[in-house]
Amino acid sequence: MTRRWKGWRNFFRMTLPRKTYLVILLLAAGALAGGSILARRSLPAPVQPIEFSHRVHAGDNQISCLYCHTAATRSTVAGVPTVATCYECHRLVRLKNSETNKVLEHWENKQPIAWVRIHTLPDHVYFSHKRHVSAGVACQTCHGDVQTVERLSQIAPLTMGWCVDCHKERAASLECSTCHK
Ligand code: HEC
Ligand code: HEC
Ligand code: HEC
Ligand code: HEC
Ligand code: HEC
Repeated sequence: MTRRWKGWRNFFRMTLPRKTYLVILLLAAGALAGGSILARRSLPAPVQPIEFSHRVHAGDNQISCLYCHTAATRSTVAGVPTVATCYECHRLVRLKNSETNKVLEHWENKQPIAWVRIHTLPDHVYFSHKRHVSAGVACQTCHGDVQTVERLSQIAPLTMGWCVDCHKERAASLECSTCHK
């Protein structure tokens, strides 16, 4: 004998006890919350001493990444610009804005800006910007669409699996000694 369909309410009543649904609901909510915590953990955007915007500089004003991160083509590190680089422009680009005034203060007091470092690999890993940049890997492949963001954060996981996956894809070296000297 087939039972007549009486809507979802009855469907839930007749198949499993109410408590079971509650447990399933809680588990689902837990999984969702866990997922979003994990997602957030890979995006720490520290507050910087000056609200420097990549969107304004590299996006709106189309200043090349290499104008400020000059070392990236010839060194292992990309480097962050010194106050002198900021001052070259901001002695002319004067805004009635407390953040740009900070740039001028740092210049006048000969005081470096203590930028908070975002990316760090463990000491046992060897990485070189020069090698990747000269192989034509775009900054954005590893750092995301930097030119669209106000406050920078880490996008890539920087795990061994992340490095190795791309090395496989692009037929780059997989030898342990490439990345562990
Ligand atoms: C006008 C100078 C300037 C330009 C142009 C610029 N940057 Fe930066 N960049 C900075 C400064 C200053 C910092 C440190 C403050 C911060 O993290 O926002 C920085 C930080 C970074 C960091 C994080 C460094 C860390 O601590 O791990 C990355 C990655 C980066 N820039 C990539 C880029 C890329 C990619 C471009 C081009 C799309 C670019 N930048 C263009 C000045 C610049
Ligand atoms: C190549 C020229 C150039 C360099 C180098 C440069 N800036 Fe700028 N900056 C600009 C321009 C152009 C603007 C936008 C001016 C406007 O909005 O009219 C700007 C805007 C700003 C602002 C205001 C942003 C806003 O939201 O309005 C801050 C703060 C700032 N810059 C800080 C820095 C710091 C810190 C450095 C060095 C790491 C730096 N700039 C290097 C050209 C430069
Ligand atoms: C193949 C991936 C990859 C590419 C491409 C890449 N980066 Fe990086 N970047 C990294 C990794 C990994 C780190 C952390 C390095 C460390 O801790 O030794 C890093 C760190 C940085 C830093 C902070 C530390 C430092 O080296 O000064 C800046 C700034 C930076 N990158 C900018 C850039 C810019 C600008 C470009 C393009 C010209 C670029 N990166 C291209 C992976 C990449
Ligand atoms: C998006 C792709 C990509 C990612 C991600 C990437 N690499 Fe690479 N890597 C390359 C390519 C392509 C080359 C080959 C460069 C060449 O042939 O000169 C390379 C070369 C290298 C080299 C030089 C190899 C040699 O033969 O001297 C080192 C060291 C290196 N990668 C380390 C790393 C580490 C460490 C990471 C992770 C933190 C990483 N790479 C992530 C694409 C990538
Ligand atoms: C393309 C780069 C690359 C290659 C090739 C590579 N590694 Fe790594 N390895 C890394 C990075 C990056 C880390 C750091 C990851 C992290 O901290 O999450 C790492 C971490 C490790 C660690 C430490 C793990 C831990 O928990 O701290 C060991 C051990 C290791 N690698 C062994 C190896 C061995 C063995 C090989 C060769 C079969 C190898 N790696 C090849 C990039 C590489």
